[in-house]
Amino acid sequence: MAIHFGVDYYPEHWPAERWETDAKLMQEMGIRVVRLAEFSWHKMEPREGSYDFAWLDEAVKVLGEKGIVSILGTPSAAPPAWMIHKHPEIQPVDREGRVHGFGGRHHDCQSNATYRSYCRQMVTNMAHHFKDNPYVVGWQIDNELGNSHDGLCYCDSCKAAFQKWLAKKYGTVEELNKAWGTAFWSQEYNAFEEVIPPRLTAAGDNPSCLLDWRLFHSDLVLDFATEQIDILRKMCPKQFITHNCMGFADTINYYDLGKKLDFVSHDQYPDGYFVEGSHVAEHINAAGLDVIRSYKQQSFWIMEQQSGITGWEMMGRNPRPGQLSAFAMQSIGHGADAVVFFRWRSCSMGEEQYWHGILPHHGNPDRRYYELQRLTQNMFSLMEEMEGATPASRVGIVFSFAQNYAIRIQPQVPDFRYLNFLWDVYKAFYDLHVDVDFVPEDGEFDKYDLLVAPLQYLMSDELAHKYTAYTEKGGHLLLTFRSGVKDRTNICYTDGPLPGKLQDLAGVSVEEYDPLYDISQSVSWDGTIFPVKTWADVLKADKDTQVLATYEKEFYAGAPAITCHPVGKGACYYLGCDPSGGLMKELAERLLSESGIRGNGNADPGVELITRSKGEKTWLFAINFTGENKEFHIAPDYERLGSAGSCENGDTGEESLLSPYESRVYVKTMG
Ligand code: GAL
Repeated sequence: MAIHFGVDYYPEHWPAERWETDAKLMQEMGIRVVRLAEFSWHKMEPREGSYDFAWLDEAVKVLGEKGIVSILGTPSAAPPAWMIHKHPEIQPVDREGRVHGFGGRHHDCQSNATYRSYCRQMVTNMAHHFKDNPYVVGWQIDNELGNSHDGLCYCDSCKAAFQKWLAKKYGTVEELNKAWGTAFWSQEYNAFEEVIPPRLTAAGDNPSCLLDWRLFHSDLVLDFATEQIDILRKMCPKQFITHNCMGFADTINYYDLGKKLDFVSHDQYPDGYFVEGSHVAEHINAAGLDVIRSYKQQSFWIMEQQSGITGWEMMGRNPRPGQLSAFAMQSIGHGADAVVFFRWRSCSMGEEQYWHGILPHHGNPDRRYYELQRLTQNMFSLMEEMEGATPASRVGIVFSFAQNYAIRIQPQVPDFRYLNFLWDVYKAFYDLHVDVDFVPEDGEFDKYDLLVAPLQYLMSDELAHKYTAYTEKGGHLLLTFRSGVKDRTNICYTDGPLPGKLQDLAGVSVEEYDPLYDISQSVSWDGTIFPVKTWADVLKADKDTQVLATYEKEFYAGAPAITCHPVGKGACYYLGCDPSGGLMKELAERLLSESGIRGNGNADPGVELITRSKGEKTWLFAINFTGENKEFHIAPDYERLGSAGSCENGDTGEESLLSPYESRVYVKTMG
């Protein structure tokens, strides 16, 4: 589909006389697609049952005549005032029993039957109206499902849905009591009807209940989306269906959602949200893109790509000349087949007045427009050629929603976060310029030479066997502390020492553990001392397990901290502590060399080197995220592609030197 660049457009915010000018400016910028209407419920159904699509028909036509096709958003992220007035019970209720009301967006409960019925009617009417419109190529379900529902809804409708979900999962209330360990604090239930959502309690919670609550909620939102997807699939077979996910956001299990979509989309704001001057570290932005690719194991779209200063009440930084292009190139380098910028024009009203678009408030093209115009011109034909290309990663990092939930429920050490640890591990490979995929627990492990499985806290026999089989066949596996601690319903493993079901595979047993808080600890690896933090598993190594590093301090000084256990044709490494950057890098280097994997080159900090491959071709992206010249070196068999990704700040004229925010693309052909 020759689209590749687009914008999020809100024609309803501007007089209709302006649309023609917008369409012309978009066309001249190389824009081929717009996303429309995802917050326009009232405009499309101003009064109950009376639908008005005339304005949208007109906008789609004005754009279509300029060669710009449309994706329509279903508007269920912002139900109109008339609906809430008539059915206030649609509004979500938080854990403390407070209703979150009208005035922003997402003021809806996704289990509410009345709201569901309104959504079905709206989607059916939209589908009926637009299914044969030649300018409408696809649909976006809702908007960022899970955003603003992060606090989850605890209303009575959700209570009933939770009870039903539990009854289906456990069959009998006795099974539920067992799985949740309700013997503790006299929490036994006699019937599913007695179970309530984990609302505010007098003291403490049941971790098993909290875990199921999160799993239930993910299924609930998925079911909400599926209702809309099913209608559109049936009525609009010629149009695609996608959804704009948010990287690692965890309200909904995106692996599950991905299965229902034609492709996954993502919203990418490298400068972060709301927070003054915040800027998300490049490796975290990169990880967000890699995880999006993993949700369907294919290339993806960016449905919202930062196009200016971000901000609601506060503003972020003003992206420097070339910086927005570098951000967009990062998305492309990690597998985006299309980049849709959010938003076309800075909005004069509402909460997002300071979330800047490509055009400033006054609507005349300026620096950002011309910069992104050059980007679309330089990249369009290459994007066409690369469509579907993905990194040929040989390293997989296991990412699991359930593990994330469980560690969120009990961080165990203050400020410890599953995602922060995952990103620290990812960073070691990122800094070595190694392409990485994220992999679900039920994914295909065997295609990776190296599998990194951080914090395998919840363990099943099945998953333990899968890791063992992977390693026996020759895979290199890294396991870490806090693995094998619980079963899948969040009950502690009691049949032996940790890492529980992974003990034989890891070739170690955890004799005791030491949550480090403010205790300083370090390990010695080949004579070098590295500080460690958060946690120390005091290990006992099996006879055939090699000790790579030992603790330096405390009563367990000299005990193994990092080990390697040969298993079949492969090996299982165990990391008993939370390493500092230096130690993680050391470990990553060792794992890569043992697995025979090399990075894409060397570069100064602030430069990313990533690849996408398709057929015989591999494209390498070199991107400088800094405001200074930076050096990089890649293999000589890569050939530079003309002006692709060239930058505002010009070319340094030197082969190995990138100018501020410059990106270059190289290609090599196998065979
Ligand atoms: C996204 C959202 C957009 C817009 C943008 C800027 O999260 O999908 O609708 O709100 O952020 O705040």
